[in-house]
Amino acid sequence: MEIKTAKFIKGIKGTDEILNDGKIKIAFIGRSNVGKSSLINSLTNKKNLVKSSSLPGKTREINFFLINEDFYFVDLPGYGFAKIENKQREKLRKLILWYLFSEEVLNDKIILIIDFKVGLSKFDSEMLYLLRESDIDYILVANKIDKISKGNRLNQLKKLESETGEKNIILYSSKTNEGREDLLLKIFS
Ligand code: GTP
Ligand code: MG
Repeated sequence: MEIKTAKFIKGIKGTDEILNDGKIKIAFIGRSNVGKSSLINSLTNKKNLVKSSSLPGKTREINFFLINEDFYFVDLPGYGFAKIENKQREKLRKLILWYLFSEEVLNDKIILIIDFKVGLSKFDSEMLYLLRESDIDYILVANKIDKISKGNRLNQLKKLESETGEKNIILYSSKTNEGREDLLLKIFS
């Protein structure tokens, strides 16, 4: 699968006609600052398609990017970020849960991203639990592998596998693009 074109279509904060346009939607979810937006830039080979930031809480809407004029990559706000005010945080949490679990939004695929170095956070466990409980299909990606030396990656992977109970975790770096082919294959298989 080649990604030839990628363009921003719109950001939504609730129900919208884009949800019913019949196109496949592949959503990227995960803790704030885990690198969701950077990962979309890496997959699409565009440095600035999606705005990323070293400050958590950058993405505040559900943003749709049309790929190959055919389907969407969907960038969501992050969960679990403590430093934004309560009201705003609760709003974002509701928005994420609505997108993932409401009948109104039928997701075709979900990519759950965790931080390879940090490991599974309490919020990640909750999200995994909710996805499994709802029988939602997801792909698990561990991002930022460049932060761990090659010699220590196998151990770290084993730890993550036992924490998550998953065997097919894709190792990724949005910085070096390692794992890009693996993830594209998995998404489009
Ligand atoms: P929110 O929108 O706040 O939920 O964050 P996000 O998950 O979209 O994260 P974002 O892509 O904005 O990246 C957060 C920070 O992590 C930025 O400073 C990125 O440059 C950095 N980053 C993302 N991916 C990687 C990676 O694979 N390796 C390294 N070293 N840094 C990364
Ligand atoms: Mg973001």
